Amino acid sequence: MIVTTAQLYKVAYKKFAAGAYNINNLEQTMGLFRGCIQSKAPFIIQLSKGARNYTDKRMLEAIIRTAEQMFPEAIFAVHLDHGDEATCYDCIDSGFYSSVMIDASHESFEENIAITRRVVDRAHAEGISVEAELGMLGGVEEDIKVDEGHACLTNPDEAVEFVERSGCDSLAAAIGTSHGAYKFKGQQSLRFDVIEAISQKVPGMPIVMHGSSSVPIEEVQRINAAGGKLDPSARGVAENEYLPAAKLGVTKVNIDTDGRLVWTRVHREFFRDKPAEFDFRPPGKIFMQAYADFIAHKNEKLGSAGQLETVRESL
Ligand code: G3H
Ligand code: 13P
Ligand code: ZN
Repeated sequence: MIVTTAQLYKVAYKKFAAGAYNINNLEQTMGLFRGCIQSKAPFIIQLSKGARNYTDKRMLEAIIRTAEQMFPEAIFAVHLDHGDEATCYDCIDSGFYSSVMIDASHESFEENIAITRRVVDRAHAEGISVEAELGMLGGVEEDIKVDEGHACLTNPDEAVEFVERSGCDSLAAAIGTSHGAYKFKGQQSLRFDVIEAISQKVPGMPIVMHGSSSVPIEEVQRINAAGGKLDPSARGVAENEYLPAAKLGVTKVNIDTDGRLVWTRVHREFFRDKPAEFDFRPPGKIFMQAYADFIAHKNEKLGSAGQLETVRESL
């Protein structure tokens, strides 16, 4: 059952975080639904502009609608990840999305507010909620690359004015993370002080954490042992920081890179061990199960595992 993102946030706020998983194809979709049913978790499917253009946005919608029929007990929201203004309007008008993200964080403060306000007005007229970003994460977001020198943490005082004037429903905040596999060096961790300050100054506002993959070292090592060339110093967010962040108001946790690592590990190992194989279905089946197990594990760490019935009762 597709629900609104707001319905999930109402139950989750300061108790657990909903996993927001990027999907691009049917194998990921199958693994995602299986993993969430396995762990009895509500979840958010998010589609980036790149995912919508990988085949065709209609193909993704059809896959998700089919999965909804195959897994009638699933409760989830459908969200546009890192949208520009035109893509937000396309999603709002489609009637398929629960929420959209307008990412104008690379614009000036005033321009970010103006763009977000326009999207909020269009979205709210259709009962759709809007995630907006303030502050800038390092790494690659869609077509925009932000180098670490230009990344900047969200200013909690600015967040008050931003939320008030833009009317956004959730806030993607820069709290020390970045997109991709190379987030942290050494012993860096989340900026809990910034999360806490935002949640004190904008009480009740769901905070969204982008760049939340943990980049498990074992996964990187297995990929490299099977022919990959990932930087072995790659580090992400420690999984045991998800729940403390959730208790402070981080209600949506975006995970994409870790799922890509699962795909890469499964396929590299499969074809390393079976070099004469060329049927893609056997590794595809292994991937779907591995992805389901990965999702169930993440949901445990996010505290969303076991929350499916609580959410159902709240609807
Ligand atoms: O933040 C970006 C997400 O990981 C989506 O990545 O734009 O390559 O689909 P993508
Ligand atoms: P990761 O690159 O850490 O998986 O972040 C994904 C994300 O923020 C999608 O919006
Ligand atoms: Zn992101």
